[in-house]
Amino acid sequence: MDILLAVGTAQASQWMNAVVHVLPHARVRAWTSGDKAHADYVLFWKCDAAALVPRDGLKAIFNLGAGVDALIPLLRTASCDAPVYRLEDAGMAQQMADYARYGVLHHMRRFEDYRRQAAACEWRALNALHRRAMPVGVMGLGRLGEHVARTLTADGFIVRGYSRSKKHIEGVETFARNDGIDRFLDGLHVLIDLLPATEDTRNILNMRTFARLADGACLINLARGMHVNEDDLLEALDTGKLGFAMLDVFAHEPLLTAHPFWRHPRVMVTPHISAATLIDESARQVAEKIAALEEGRTVTGLVDMQRGY
Ligand code: NAP
Ligand code: GLV
Repeated sequence: MDILLAVGTAQASQWMNAVVHVLPHARVRAWTSGDKAHADYVLFWKCDAAALVPRDGLKAIFNLGAGVDALIPLLRTASCDAPVYRLEDAGMAQQMADYARYGVLHHMRRFEDYRRQAAACEWRALNALHRRAMPVGVMGLGRLGEHVARTLTADGFIVRGYSRSKKHIEGVETFARNDGIDRFLDGLHVLIDLLPATEDTRNILNMRTFARLADGACLINLARGMHVNEDDLLEALDTGKLGFAMLDVFAHEPLLTAHPFWRHPRVMVTPHISAATLIDESARQVAEKIAALEEGRTVTGLVDMQRGY
């Protein structure tokens, strides 16, 4: 079996070692410019569209991340119509839950206000929020969002969830897109974004969305920067409609030095680290899926090109 590894990041050699380890009987090669030779499977992340050219014998492409928004336009450029599978959790869900929980607790215990008070040496106890009186909303109830919603529910928070199709998650009040988004948003104290980046979700975090939240609410964006209308977010923070934003993802990454988010007193920026891809765990998942495909078994994580995720 021929595996073509097309990884355009500094982790390329780590990926090579991990893939050779989990697929010891395969011939694994790294993509180099001009390679159009046979491959059964292409494993792709942040590489050149030329690696995606239609190939003799190509059975599937594996996206070595959860989001396929960067891959889809490259597939079009390369006129590639092979099935695409993406990573499902592979250790990312727990990291997302850790990040989300940190943000929710930060908001509940008013640490942002205490940080400001401390800067002025002000010793003053504030009224804490109560976890049962500060509903938290999770947008996107897929592999990552569902885990975050379950974790926060187990922590005793009142959790709502929003997805395209209707979900049933014990303890979580769920809303489907067709129900409209307003009832999901109304009065939320924390809004956590774990939607995929598609044309339907572009700019979904805008002034109309923020207006429905509780005053002083907290936004945690763990998904993609294209979801945010940045001018609206800055205005909502400046007027106090939003009290705090934890932003891990941006429309343009890395975030430019001049970007106002870096210096905004109510924004915390992290550099797209809320859920790192765990290479060994992810390589194992890909190997298991390849084995299943080879045996004709059904494999989850197939990307629906029409929906865009
Ligand atoms: P997923 O399993 O595909 O889940 C996506 C969820 O969003 C599903 O519940 C889906 O609804 C819902 N959805 C899609 N379009 C919608 C719409 N227009 N309105 C309402 N709901 C919609 O994806 P995942 O594995 O959980 O990953 C989610 C995203 O996290 C990725 O796409 C990626 O952008 C981001 N991510 C970020 C990092 C990071 O480090 N910052 C790391 C990994 C992933 P249905 O269930 O009904 O289909
Ligand atoms: C990272 O952002 C991913 O989509 O896996």
